[in-house]
Amino acid sequence: MVKKVFVSRPYHPEAIDLLSEDYEVEVWPNKTSPPKEFLVEKVSQCHGMLMESYDIMDADVLGVSGPLSVVSNRAVGTDNLDIPVATARGILLGNTPGVLQESCADLAFALLLNAARRVSYSDREVRAGRWTMLDQTPYLGTDVYAKTLGIVGLGGIGEAVARRALGFDMDIVYFSRTRKPELEQRYGLRWAENLSSLLGQSDYVSLHMPLTDQTRGMIGHAELHQMKPDAFLINTSRGATVDPRALYNALLDGEIAGAALDVTDPEPIPSDDPILSLSNVVITAHIASGSTATFKTMALMAARNIIAALTGQPMPSCVNPEAGENRA
Ligand code: GLV
Repeated sequence: MVKKVFVSRPYHPEAIDLLSEDYEVEVWPNKTSPPKEFLVEKVSQCHGMLMESYDIMDADVLGVSGPLSVVSNRAVGTDNLDIPVATARGILLGNTPGVLQESCADLAFALLLNAARRVSYSDREVRAGRWTMLDQTPYLGTDVYAKTLGIVGLGGIGEAVARRALGFDMDIVYFSRTRKPELEQRYGLRWAENLSSLLGQSDYVSLHMPLTDQTRGMIGHAELHQMKPDAFLINTSRGATVDPRALYNALLDGEIAGAALDVTDPEPIPSDDPILSLSNVVITAHIASGSTATFKTMALMAARNIIAALTGQPMPSCVNPEAGENRA
């Protein structure tokens, strides 16, 4: 019997071709997530599923019985997956670390520079016909060179951001679950004992932690208050790590100088969200990993996770290897 694999988007031809060599592949034809009832049906029919980080695979979906043995996210984040339920059911979960950190770090740095030097703001003004004389004063920004960058979460992406910051002669401080003395030595990073200490000394705070029960809402009113009034917040992690109302108020009240967000809560951000009216905010459409090359590499890695799981080989990246022991 040929095993079935479901792919939740139509735009990964190489990954779909690779999977089609050995499996019957069904591809969702739309650019939006399949509805929940449809995912439930697929869980009950398919052996593998290749999903995007926007596709919610919660207990209602992953708890449904069927032949499913692997779900592979085309993402490094796994907050869309109910890991305990999948593990209990013996469903292996794959993700794509290691292939996207350079693209993500490029965008984090692009956002940092953009917010600091008011690139999008200036562009909006020029297009609106408001650049009518040679006067820099409405656009004066903040230097990046030699400032302090605070990195929250020193995984692969945080480290790639640190490497870029070295080129700008930045002083780099980090706060992470685990201290990383080897990286401290290699890049001259300073370790902050706690988040407050990092927030209080950074000119730029860049978030790189995964979204978990511990990090949800981690940057709220109190934390924004601890930042310097001339500091910027850059978020390329997940929108829900920051309290959106607290961020709006902090920006409005001048508690911080600006924010650059590739992720929001919810996503996409509603067009009437008040934060969009603020001139010191830059928002991009959750595109940090989205270079053409990385988009394809992630899809292929996600496909290879499925192939490995279905053929009993070690997956390129599995977040719950212990699930293998629970397979019937
Ligand atoms: C993107 O958001 C990812 O988790 O890879």
